[in-house]
Amino acid sequence: MTHFPPSFVWGAAAASYQIEGAAYEDGKGLSIWDMLCRKPGAIWEGHTGDLACDHYHRCAEDVALMRQLGLQAYRFSISWPRVLPEGTGKVNPSGLGFYDRLVDSLLEAGVAPYATLFHWDFPYALYCKGGWLNRDSADWFANYARVVVEALGDRVRDWMTLNEIQVFVGMGHLDGEHAPGDKLGMPEVLRVGHHALLAHGKAVQAIRAASPGPCRVGWAPTIFPLIPMTKSPEDVAAARLAMFSVPEGDYALWSSSWWLDPVFFGRYPEDGLRVFASAAPPVESGDMETIAEPLDFCGFNIYQGRRVQAGPEGYPVVVPHATGYAKTSYDWAVMPETLYWGPRFMYERYGVPLFITENGLANADWISLDGAVHDPQRIDFTRRYLLALERAIADGVDVRGYFHWSLMDNFEWAQGYRERFGLIFVDYATQQRVLKDSATWYRDVIASNGVKLHEGL
Ligand code: FCB
Repeated sequence: MTHFPPSFVWGAAAASYQIEGAAYEDGKGLSIWDMLCRKPGAIWEGHTGDLACDHYHRCAEDVALMRQLGLQAYRFSISWPRVLPEGTGKVNPSGLGFYDRLVDSLLEAGVAPYATLFHWDFPYALYCKGGWLNRDSADWFANYARVVVEALGDRVRDWMTLNEIQVFVGMGHLDGEHAPGDKLGMPEVLRVGHHALLAHGKAVQAIRAASPGPCRVGWAPTIFPLIPMTKSPEDVAAARLAMFSVPEGDYALWSSSWWLDPVFFGRYPEDGLRVFASAAPPVESGDMETIAEPLDFCGFNIYQGRRVQAGPEGYPVVVPHATGYAKTSYDWAVMPETLYWGPRFMYERYGVPLFITENGLANADWISLDGAVHDPQRIDFTRRYLLALERAIADGVDVRGYFHWSLMDNFEWAQGYRERFGLIFVDYATQQRVLKDSATWYRDVIASNGVKLHEGL
C-alpha cells in the first residue's frame, strides 16, 4: 500500500560547482566560488571545487550509475560562467556542449533532466560590475536563461530558476561565509534580494518565451518548517503563524514569506516591511508583477526545522530540541516531520504543486573492510522523511516528486569535502565511486514506488 501516486518522480540532485570540477577548462569563465576558494581561511582545509568529483569528465560514468539506481529524474545545475564566460555576450560552445551531452545521456538512460539555472556560481565578471547589487543583474540572468533554453529546451522540460535565494543572499552578502563573501548592510542585502527576485521573474518569462515545446517552470527556495509540538489546533495555528511571519533579528532573512509572498502574491509581506523598515528595497513600478509571473510548481529544499507551541494568546513559542536529540554529522537535527508540515503549510498558503527538490543528510561514511559503504543512518533518515512526506500526500498535499540530496558526495561549500551527503561515495584521491548501502536501498524504494518504505513496519 502506498500513497505515492504512480506519476510520482523519484530523483536525486547535485549542483555544478559542487561536482563538476574543470574549473579552468574549455573556456569556462571564473565564478565567485572560484574566487572565494582562493581566499585563505574561507573554506575548510583550503578545499576548492577545482576538481571536485571531476563530473565534467566522468559524466557518462555518473549517468550510468543513475541508470543502475533506476533514478527517474536528476536535478542538476548549469554553471552560468561555463556557458557565458563573461556572464553576458559571447557563448562558450564547449560549455554549452557539456550540458548538451549530459542531457542526451540522461534521456538515453531514461532519466528526466530537471535543470536549475542558478545554484550559486555567479560569473565573477558580472560581480565586478556590481553583481546582484546592480539592477541590471535581472536582465543578465534572463539573457543567460534564454541562451540555455534555446540550446536545451527541445529536450529539457523542467526548469528551476534560483536555488535557495535565502542562502546566497544572506550567507553570501550579509554573513560573508559564502561567495561572494561580502558583509553588506541590510539595505544593500535586501536590494540584492530584490534584484534576485526580479531576475527570477524575468527568467521565468525568458524560459517560456525560448522554450520550443511545453515546459514547466519553478524555483527552489529552502524552508525551515515549524512543527507543531502537538496536534492541538492551538499548536498548529501557532506553527503556521510562525511559518509565515518575518521575525525580528537574525532570523529575518530566513523567513519563508519574505521570499515566497512576492513570487506567489506579488507583494512583500507587511510584517516584513515593518521589520526591515527603512532597509526595505526600492521597488519600481512593474517589479512585483514580473516577480509574480505564475509558476508551474514550487521546489522546496528541506533539511531541518524547529518545534513550536502556542504560548500566551496563541503566540508561537519555539521549543528547544530535547536533550540528546538525534543529529547528523553536520549537527543538523533529524526532524522527519519537516517533510509533513513543510509541504502542508506551503500548499495551504500558495496552492501550487510542489517538489521536494533537496533533502538528505551528511554522514560519517567510509569504505569498510568488506569494500562496501554501510550507511544505515542515511537509510533510516530517508525512510522517516519519506514516510512523513507520504502522510502529507495522503492528507491531500500535491507533491509531485522527491530529489535526494545528493546523488554523490561533493564539495559542501564553506565546509569543503568535510561533509558527505551522497548516495554514492566518492574517493576524492582516485575518483572511484562506490554505491553506498543507501543507494541500493533507494533503488528498491524507487522500483516499488515507496512500498519498500513500509517493509517490516
Ligand atoms: C543546500 C544547498 C546544497 C547543499 C545542501 C546540503 O543548502 O542547496 O547545495 O549544499 O544544502
